[in-house]
Amino acid sequence: MCGIVGYVGKEDAKEILLKGLEKLEYRGYDSAGIAIVNDEGVHLFKEKGRIAQLREVVDQNEAGTVGIGHTRWATHGAPSRVNAHPHQSTSHRFTIVHNGVIENYEEIQKEYLADVEFVSETDTEVIVQLVERSMGEGNSVERAFRQTLSLLKGSYAIALLDETDPDKIYVGKNKSPLLVGLGDGVNVVASDAMAMLNVTNEFVELMDKEIVIVTRDSVTIKNLAGVTVARDSFIAELDASDIEKGTYPHYMLKEIDEQPLVIRNIISKYQDENGEVTLDDEIRHAMNAADRIYIIAAGTSYHAGLVGKQLIETIAKKPVETHIASEFLYNMPLISNNPLFIFISQSGETADSRGVLVNVKKLGHPALTITNVPGSTLSREADFTLHTVAGPEIAVASTKAYTAQMAVLALLAVDTAKAQGIAVEFDAIKELSIVATVMEALCDQKEALEKVARDYLSTTRNCFFIGRASDYYVGLEGALKLKEISYIQAEGFAGGELKHGTIALIEEGTPVIALATQEHVNLSIRGNVKEVAARGANPCIISLEGLNSENDQFIIPKVHDYLTPLVAVIPLQLIAYYASLHRGCDVDKPRNLAKSVTVE
Ligand code: F6R
Repeated sequence: MCGIVGYVGKEDAKEILLKGLEKLEYRGYDSAGIAIVNDEGVHLFKEKGRIAQLREVVDQNEAGTVGIGHTRWATHGAPSRVNAHPHQSTSHRFTIVHNGVIENYEEIQKEYLADVEFVSETDTEVIVQLVERSMGEGNSVERAFRQTLSLLKGSYAIALLDETDPDKIYVGKNKSPLLVGLGDGVNVVASDAMAMLNVTNEFVELMDKEIVIVTRDSVTIKNLAGVTVARDSFIAELDASDIEKGTYPHYMLKEIDEQPLVIRNIISKYQDENGEVTLDDEIRHAMNAADRIYIIAAGTSYHAGLVGKQLIETIAKKPVETHIASEFLYNMPLISNNPLFIFISQSGETADSRGVLVNVKKLGHPALTITNVPGSTLSREADFTLHTVAGPEIAVASTKAYTAQMAVLALLAVDTAKAQGIAVEFDAIKELSIVATVMEALCDQKEALEKVARDYLSTTRNCFFIGRASDYYVGLEGALKLKEISYIQAEGFAGGELKHGTIALIEEGTPVIALATQEHVNLSIRGNVKEVAARGANPCIISLEGLNSENDQFIIPKVHDYLTPLVAVIPLQLIAYYASLHRGCDVDKPRNLAKSVTVE
């Protein structure tokens, strides 16, 4: 986690760094800091809390055209001013920001830095102290930097300032994302292109174990042995307006409302001139060749993977297992002879998923990544990528990426079925267009859903979501959305499972949100609702048109059976949004979380 930025240009760096960090706050927001350098030396500003708090301590009288910045999601050492980045070496000559985790920092401390007095509890401080130590051995800064990086185990995206050479930033990368942006008389560094779109849209991607020496007029990439590496730049196809809230009060609400458009974008990306689903030939071949599919993902993406299993098994008749990334390597199933691994990840950076991908590649198995960020680590390291084209998702709670993942999985299922000669009655393109229209209608029902949130969730401590079949999976996602942004203890259960223990938690007034969008389980889920109501629960039934009863609290217009999860989740997203709002929580940046989880 964490986000870093760097600027070497002609303008005052402070505001550019702060604006860049604001764009990276999704990566962590426990504490933040910037360092700028001018003729008088390095000026350091850091604070616990958000970038807004950092702004208050930045001295506007200090100016400098070179600087680095950091927004933190704490791993080693609690969120505090002292643990906030940038960190400095004992002499204050070197100043560093770091995203990642140095696994061997304690060994390094003991072996090389036993006499150094550390100021913070972070793993990062060893890096800057090692550079200073290595300089003392008669090395150039560049050599000291390369030597230091070759001693580190773990992940890092680093930017380093040398007070005695104030027109340069040294950059290093291993596993954590990092880009260098190219401008005219200005070059920048950022964890994510979004942070520097105001300066440039031309970027150079770095590979693991590379360093870059960045000045105003040059960007020199080298490997850790000091050999210069050539690399082409690319243009980031991002629109700066995509990452603004516009007139919306929160990114989450904007992103919920964007879902119909995202589904339409997916349709146009993945249909051919005859209106037929068409994916990449290589992906089709890999799906065809596989005797079993293993879907690996975390959190919301895992929930999309559960629906994906149903879609691929039902439509393409291929066996699929869906696994939580963080557990897969410890509870590894027997792998079939010809597996295909599918990694689902909005960010494409989730460390737990990447850990599995690295192992899977070592075993020689093919891998496909379904992601919203095509240049991301999981995308680069897999054999194939399917892009979910949802546009930047900024709110920490994932919404449009989830529905986009399910839509792409539906298309993948159809494409695979057709390639196998299975007759597919399901017209995915037409049915997804209907989904987009129904999503629009649901997004227009905000008042009704705000009322549900107010009536059921304003003061409650806990809430249960129940459903059967695919409604169970959507219930898991509804519970995750609610708990992460409203801090209500919310759990999703298979309707039939509640009576095996959890029903003991039902008390007078406990809200139970029941999904009833599946015809074959409609009666049984309604039976489960009666069971909880008889024990005092306050049930809220969300059903599909045609399956509804008179007293249901919310009715979703009909869509194709296969695609009900894409629409059933919309009311749950909006209910979670309004519950968070009514309870005075920070909708877009809930406590303790970060958008991309790059630590295991
Ligand atoms: C919840 C949420 C997380 C992510 C999870 C995986 O709203 O966003 O549960 O889904 O951290 O992240 P990605 O999809 O980036 O791999």
